[in-house]
Amino acid sequence: MHLLTISDKEFHALQEIMYRVSGVRLLPTKKALMVARLRKRLKELGLGSFEEYLELIRQPASGELELFVNAITTNETFFYRHPEQFYFLMNKIFPYCLERKKNDASPELRVWSAACATGEEPYSLAIACQEFFKMHPKWNIIIYATDINSAVLDFAKEAVYAERSMVGLSPYLRGEYFERLAEEPDYKRGRFRLRKEKIPPVTFLHHNLLNPFPYLGMDIIFLRNVMIYYDKPAKQKVTSLVEKNLVPGGFLLISMTETLQDIHTNLRYIQSGSGVYQKG
Ligand SMILES: C[S@@+](CC[C@H](N)C(=O)[O-])C[C@H]1O[C@@H](n2cnc3c(N)ncnc32)[C@H](O)[C@@H]1O
Repeated sequence: MHLLTISDKEFHALQEIMYRVSGVRLLPTKKALMVARLRKRLKELGLGSFEEYLELIRQPASGELELFVNAITTNETFFYRHPEQFYFLMNKIFPYCLERKKNDASPELRVWSAACATGEEPYSLAIACQEFFKMHPKWNIIIYATDINSAVLDFAKEAVYAERSMVGLSPYLRGEYFERLAEEPDYKRGRFRLRKEKIPPVTFLHHNLLNPFPYLGMDIIFLRNVMIYYDKPAKQKVTSLVEKNLVPGGFLLISMTETLQDIHTNLRYIQSGSGVYQKG
């Protein structure tokens, strides 16, 4: 069988394209994984070499750049990932927002899940908002969810999930917000449909974090497990941009294993190891 091989020069060219487009640095240790994913794509396209594939990506009219990015991004996620942060959200951040806007006639909570992958994170936020704000029906909850990968956004809009996405959910949340699919086409059978009618709406948008996001005034931004793929300049750029989307007093949550220590920012670390920052 003929195996498509990639030269160092071709791998380097693909690395550079991915970095320029998304800020993601593909490490040499990820080469085998990347090549395996792309071989599939080359087969679908009927291409015989990575040289031909590079030519195709470089033609804007081909639309292949978007599919290349889709094939290469890592989209690992699940509901209620880093549960300590959801605990902090329910017990500190939401009460803080409630107090701050208690005199508003039509109070609004604006939330952004930046790099939302297949939707588990923004839907977890929507569920948490529902649980907290159900006692406060005056509140209007607005949730944006964005990603550079257009395929994961399509998946997210369907809101149908496999068991492995559900492991972090309590029996109560499963029962309240999900239904098991039984009478469905094969690929959906045994999966769980999120009952979107029970939670605030989530608006999914295609967005690259290297560009400014036009929706401002966010109270809460989740930017978790994405900057782990960035080098310092890309991390600096994304942090500086995202910071502008927060209201003064608003919160940025990165994951609990990340830090902004090496970055210039006016955000204040709330508590060591929590991944929670606040705009002064
Ligand atoms: C590992 S997932 C994180 C999902 C979720 N935030 C979580 O913590 O579970 C990383 C996501 O970042 C997205 N991503 C990478 N670079 C991006 C960029 N420049 N702009 C927007 N999204 C990006 C990827 O497509 C992927 O879906």
